[in-house]
Amino acid sequence: MSIDLAVIGGSGLYNFPGLENSSRHRIDTPFGAASGDVVTGDFAGRKLAFLARHGESHTVPPHRVNYRANLWALHSLGARKVIGVNAVGGIRADMGPRVIVVPDQIIDYTHGRYTSFCDVEGAEVRHIDFSEPYTESLRRELIDAAAKADIAVIDGGCYGATQGPRLETRAEIARMKRDGCDLVGMTGMPEAVLARELELPYACLALVANFAAGCGDEAEISIEEIFAHLAAATAEVPRILGHLLK
Ligand code: HPA
Repeated sequence: MSIDLAVIGGSGLYNFPGLENSSRHRIDTPFGAASGDVVTGDFAGRKLAFLARHGESHTVPPHRVNYRANLWALHSLGARKVIGVNAVGGIRADMGPRVIVVPDQIIDYTHGRYTSFCDVEGAEVRHIDFSEPYTESLRRELIDAAAKADIAVIDGGCYGATQGPRLETRAEIARMKRDGCDLVGMTGMPEAVLARELELPYACLALVANFAAGCGDEAEISIEEIFAHLAAATAEVPRILGHLLK
């Protein structure tokens, strides 16, 4: 099978609206089970595959996602490029709730996750280049598609990947800001590096759900609010990707 585009849906995106003639695939991988079935179908006249990163009922927390199995499953189905849709908190002042960002850099603060396919006994050790963690041509496709759909997105920004599932302290976010992070999320890594190991073009559509700790006016971040903002930003995703596939 050849899949024009695979989408890994994050919090708030558990199925892909508008996917037609769909079929489900449960794929066994050498790394165990993916987060759930991969659903393939037709969208905008092309073949699309969708996988819910946290499972279709959001039962898999960020630190327990089997990122290797997910990427392996999409690759083995014949995905030619992958878009990760990720809910994030905004650190930069212009990255408030409902803003959509196509980041261009990553700082990884996660720990204890399997970050490489060569993390297996006897596997060849590879040190891949990761200077540019996202595939620039695919980032451009996303940005051009959003422009055609008349949806504002911010081009570039540094995604700080944290362990979760808890949100961060104000001090942690202040440190991340000093480090140069513009966004914070829990699932951007190791997804991006595993895609690179498989030589799968990969880019991220980051949906800002809230201002990160200490960056907005609120003393506390409410999960209800996060999901309300996410629903609004998520509704734009199929329109952007529809233009990308045209
Ligand atoms: N921090 C980390 N991940 C997130 C946040 C946040 O504030 N909001 C949505 N995902």
